[in-house]
Amino acid sequence: MNEQGRSVRRMFASVAPRYDLLNHLLSLNLDRLWRHRLARWAGETARAGGGGSPLRILDAGAGTGDLSLALARQFPQAQIAALDFVEPMLERLKRKTEAKSKGNRIAAVCGDALQLPFADRTFEVVASAFGLRNLSPVADALREMARVLRPGGLLLILDFALPKRGLWAAVYRLYFFRVLPKIGRWISRTSAYTYLPASVALFPEPHQLADLMGREGFLDIQWRSMAGGAVAIHRGIRGHTGA
Ligand SMILES: C[S@@+](CC[C@H](N)C(=O)[O-])C[C@H]1O[C@@H](n2cnc3c(N)ncnc32)[C@H](O)[C@@H]1O
Repeated sequence: MNEQGRSVRRMFASVAPRYDLLNHLLSLNLDRLWRHRLARWAGETARAGGGGSPLRILDAGAGTGDLSLALARQFPQAQIAALDFVEPMLERLKRKTEAKSKGNRIAAVCGDALQLPFADRTFEVVASAFGLRNLSPVADALREMARVLRPGGLLLILDFALPKRGLWAAVYRLYFFRVLPKIGRWISRTSAYTYLPASVALFPEPHQLADLMGREGFLDIQWRSMAGGAVAIHRGIRGHTGA
């Protein structure tokens, strides 16, 4: 793991105790809806593909497990590997999944999303919520996700974007770059919420991310913007070439 990875890991370890509180507070609880939409889109795509319900799913950068739980609700037959490289996040994930009686279907896996500890073509679905932005280079992370996906499998990525034009873009940027870091620092006592807007500013725009996915062999790439362009979900289907 490079120095950037180590510093991201330290940062998420320090924010873990307040991560859920800040997520829900700073997004006005919309983060729950966004993850639910990702899971629902995965369900719609899987049904339209006619290949049956996915049985093996990877949640990459699972954090405290909210996406894994949304996927577990959407796919009642599936086993979900919830991978993260921060133990304090995974400890919270385990408590949450057990409290919701999903501990038998969601397995916490400690590992690096840039070097996934899984064989080629293991999963029918790979999903990530607010995880990809932390993985550098993004193209390497997409390639690794493609490697562990079966041909025809689904990749779904939920992450932040920056609204482009108009009053909403101005208001949102003021909130995101000025107000959010202050609230985040005040509650978490860490600099993680300065890192958040900085990492979003460096992350590919939705059309650029779609291009990157295409270059890594994903097909039928689509994305849906939400919150006036502040969040996007990308969906791609793993082609039949490659690992
Ligand atoms: C912003 S949080 C998102 C957590 C969760 N998916 C959610 O929806 O709330 C990003 C997560 O990715 C994890 N992460 C970042 N880089 C990683 C890497 N290289 N390997 C594994 N996990 C990583 C962090 O530890 C953190 O828990």
